[in-house]
Amino acid sequence: MYTSSNGLYVAHGPNGPISITGTMANRHGLIAGATGTGKTVSLQVLAETFSQAGVPCFMADMKGDLSGISQTGRMSGFIEKRCAEFGITEPRFAPCPVRFYDVFGEQGHPMRTTISNMGPALMSRLMGLNEVQSGVMDIVFKVADERGLLLIDLKDLRSMLAYVNEHAGDFRVEYGTVTSATIGAIQRALLGLENEGAEKFFAEPAFDIEDLFATQDGMGVMSVLAADKLMLNPKLYSTFLLWLLSDIYSRLPEVGDCELPKLVFFFDEAHTLFTDTAPALVSKIEQVIRLIRSKGVGVYFVTQNPTDIPDSILGQLGNRIQHALRAYTPKDQKAVRAAAETFRENPSFKTADAITTLETGEALVSFLDAKGAPGVVERARILFPLSQIGAITDGQRLDIRNASPLKGKYDNVIDRESAFEILLADRQRAEQEQARQQQAVEEQKARAEQERLQAQQAREQEKARKEWEKEQKAREKEAAKSSRSTKKTSKAGLGTVVIGAAVGAAVSSLSRSAGKAAADSITGSKTTDSKKKSGSQTAAGKAISSATSSAIRTLTRSILGNLTK
Ligand SMILES: Nc1ncnc2c1ncn2[C@@H]1O[C@H](COP(=O)(O)OP(=O)(O)OP(=O)(O)O)[C@@H](O)[C@H]1O
Ligand SMILES: [Mg+2]
Repeated sequence: MYTSSNGLYVAHGPNGPISITGTMANRHGLIAGATGTGKTVSLQVLAETFSQAGVPCFMADMKGDLSGISQTGRMSGFIEKRCAEFGITEPRFAPCPVRFYDVFGEQGHPMRTTISNMGPALMSRLMGLNEVQSGVMDIVFKVADERGLLLIDLKDLRSMLAYVNEHAGDFRVEYGTVTSATIGAIQRALLGLENEGAEKFFAEPAFDIEDLFATQDGMGVMSVLAADKLMLNPKLYSTFLLWLLSDIYSRLPEVGDCELPKLVFFFDEAHTLFTDTAPALVSKIEQVIRLIRSKGVGVYFVTQNPTDIPDSILGQLGNRIQHALRAYTPKDQKAVRAAAETFRENPSFKTADAITTLETGEALVSFLDAKGAPGVVERARILFPLSQIGAITDGQRLDIRNASPLKGKYDNVIDRESAFEILLADRQRAEQEQARQQQAVEEQKARAEQERLQAQQAREQEKARKEWEKEQKAREKEAAKSSRSTKKTSKAGLGTVVIGAAVGAAVSSLSRSAGKAAADSITGSKTTDSKKKSGSQTAAGKAISSATSSAIRTLTRSILGNLTK
């Protein structure tokens, strides 16, 4: 509880109230202890104290029991005893202002983000990718960025992977080889993520971290994320919280030292953050934790054993509440010793011995003093919360959700144009263009075929004309031959024959001209133009008249020749 005299008062030791130093509350903290020793209630007491001081907090509710922070607490035998021990006469039970969130949108406002916001490193962790696959994810994000393609949901990422696969050759020089096998492995990991229901988490409207900094009637608003279902996928849970932390870090301005933190972030089941996490990401987490305090954010890890947390991060957690640890096995005993060594020794008791004998709601406590030095460890009893201990009903949760100022803000998913839609449209355009080109090729083929047929027809007509001419010549030859034999057998009848031959020649000449005109008419070479056609007819007429006059001349000469003999 926050009081004017005790400040952020959270525990009571042999020497009286133990409080967190407000200016040091952003130097992070740890709540550790075996199951059932009082970690969740300690978290609730701490968060409630911050809320009363006007500091908003974010916390993940692993079992639903943190939701009680939204309701007024009640007196119990346990609390009555504590009141007597602490010298508290009339505890003022009261709730904290709470907003419930849920990644799956069931127990609170949906809390989502986009793939772009999550970034390649966290996406790779979430999907359990190896180093090579993570490298390809980096390329996929870079290409999407260069092409101005938004990666919002899982289908955007899927389309982008397919795009990079199809155009791998274009990126080889700049980014190196991207094999289909690697893309295939990432796509399979993506399928796994979809099967775990992660598509609900990657969508818009994305959560606006500004909403975490709300206050109400002078109290800090408690943002409680329902994590019971989310925790079934520890990787999704821890990656999500890590993203939230990184997002807060990247968006907040530097504030330097403050009287009180701007926000306190509780990370329950913190060990999930470091399980199967690449060393590069662990050092990134370490860096975020180190730097985020200058932005006025305190991060409090909650876990069963402090050894679950890497030393590089454990060393940064200045405010500690250590509940009881069990020491049944040699491994347990080692963990107890390790936990004890992280405290500044109190000469009045042995830390390692105390850790194993603490009661529920009792803890070894050490907070940073005003100069940032860790206080001597004290065996203390944690205050009881003024809000309700334990879960609330579904009806109470619904009432809070309905009364929230965020009602409606995140409820409906908006699927705006992003990589999936743009790449789909590009693909459709490309397919249409391909179909158009295909049609043009077909049309060209049809035209060529038509021209071929026309040429063939013309060739056949020319052949027919030539054959006709040949036959005609043969007929003329035949006619000339029979004319000569007739001349020999009948001189008297020669005139008639000559006349006949002349007439025949004239007719033949006439026929040739007519035949030529007819042939031209067949080939069409002289029939398309009416002028040429009439010219051709004139030529035929001339041929007829010339043949006729030639025949008459021959006839005359032959008659005259016969008469003179
Ligand atoms: N400071 C306290 N004041 C009042 N009651 C407490 C306190 N600490 C613990 N308790 C009691 O002990 C019970 C168990 O505590 P809590 O749920 O916090 O344990 P836990 O360490 O979170 O357990 P788990 O690991 O199973 O989550 C609480 O339900 C509550 O009844
Ligand atoms: Mg608990």
